[in-house]
Amino acid sequence: FAFSPDNLAWAEAQISKYPEGRQASAIIPLLWRAQEQEGWLTRAAIQHVADMLGMAHIRALEVATFYFMFQLQPVGTVAHLQICGTTSCMICGAEDLIAVCRDKIAETPHTLSADGKFSWEEVECLGACANAPMAQIGKDYYEDLTAERLGEIIDELAKGEVPVPGPQNGRYAAEPL
Ligand code: FES
Repeated sequence: FAFSPDNLAWAEAQISKYPEGRQASAIIPLLWRAQEQEGWLTRAAIQHVADMLGMAHIRALEVATFYFMFQLQPVGTVAHLQICGTTSCMICGAEDLIAVCRDKIAETPHTLSADGKFSWEEVECLGACANAPMAQIGKDYYEDLTAERLGEIIDELAKGEVPVPGPQNGRYAAEPL
């Protein structure tokens, strides 16, 4: 693994923000940029970031494995779906959403669909509990989901369309007061 020239310049700028001896504080933004470059975090990328920051590889791996925004396996080329399975979403139908993922993407989480376009996982609360059930796809939240709507979203993404994120039940469709 190596950062692209642009990403390397960006990473070095991040590192320079921290006082001497505190470069390890840049670990999360550097891991994030490595993931954005590669699509997921390879062990080589994690080790490369650790070396840049003068950290033991195991310390960088500890950070990468702690946060579920870091993907440690390949993800779908079109989208990786993170389905919230915590209490509010579970009560409001998260299991139905997961059933859609099992049916349309892959039976098990962190597994690529047959065409390699999609992957999915169940995650803990994403902080949008009032709009349960919900899923994060890429950087966007899709809220007030139904199984039917999630299936449509996957189909739209597969066709290259970009479904409008936010509430999926028309809750905000009316003009604001
Ligand atoms: Fe699903 Fe909080 S429980 S977003």
